[in-house]
Amino acid sequence: MSGATPALTVAGACVTLGGRTVLREVNFSLAAGEFCGLIGSNGSGKTTLLRAILGFVPLDAGCIEVAGGGALPGGIGYVPQKIELDPGLPLRARDVVALGLEGARLGPTLPSRSRAERVEQMLAAVGASQFADRRVGLLSGGQQQRVLVAHALVRRPRLLLLDEPLANLDVRSTAEIVALLRRLSRESGTAVLLSAHDMNPLLPAMDRIVYLASGAAVAGKADEVVRTEVLSGLYGYHVDVVRVHGRVVVVAAEAREESHAAVERDPVHTAPVP
Ligand SMILES: Nc1ncnc2c1ncn2[C@@H]1O[C@H](COP(=O)(O)OP(=O)(O)O)[C@@H](O)[C@H]1O
Ligand SMILES: [Mg+2]
Repeated sequence: MSGATPALTVAGACVTLGGRTVLREVNFSLAAGEFCGLIGSNGSGKTTLLRAILGFVPLDAGCIEVAGGGALPGGIGYVPQKIELDPGLPLRARDVVALGLEGARLGPTLPSRSRAERVEQMLAAVGASQFADRRVGLLSGGQQQRVLVAHALVRRPRLLLLDEPLANLDVRSTAEIVALLRRLSRESGTAVLLSAHDMNPLLPAMDRIVYLASGAAVAGKADEVVRTEVLSGLYGYHVDVVRVHGRVVVVAAEAREESHAAVERDPVHTAPVP
């Protein structure tokens, strides 16, 4: 495939849920191997957009194209938000990765030896070989996230979507998972779109940011997008991009919850300042 073909194109995507406009016009594209953060506060529509890319949520207008065809099972790897793995679940880490090969329309089924090799390679690629035989529900949050990434990537999708994979991780695991995903996207050419409500852990790693607010998105390099004038234009009211203790924070001048409740519960970004 030509490197010029985007791995993902979202053009004028509009989504209505329960009579409410959640996404009114979202436009961006991702190239092969790009590592992209999908950033927005709670309720801004990140999960909805990822589900629309997967084809689980219909569009009212616009279109979404995934190179090589998107419908699961197929070209998209997906790590959903908040997977709770019961400690009693009788599956080892390697079994969860192997399950990623099930149900795929890979054409002729892989011979079992190739399947086992593929699982072994994937476990090694995410740094999970040493705990591959442990029960997945007993692993730490960071270890589970590695296993879920391997599960999603074992079919070698061109596009990997992860919904808030950093939400429950400590600072060290967060940095490790970000570095791992960035390396895998580079090495495999898989485009990675990762949602997060806090952009800070991703700022050093992102090739591109898609910032969602008020049902629309701005996309580009982080230093082009995360600016007072750009984000004020997106929100539709004045916000300030400020740097505090090495963190970037987006602050609204006044509480806006009520007037913008239709699209967002919390327009102010994060960062408890010590
Ligand atoms: N099935 C649904 N019906 C009605 N509204 C929904 C539904 N799912 C999500 N929403 C609303 O859509 C908005 C975006 O939700 P979501 O995509 O989950 O945001 P995020 O993942 O950024 O927190 C929220 O206001 C949410 O309440
Ligand atoms: Mg969500």
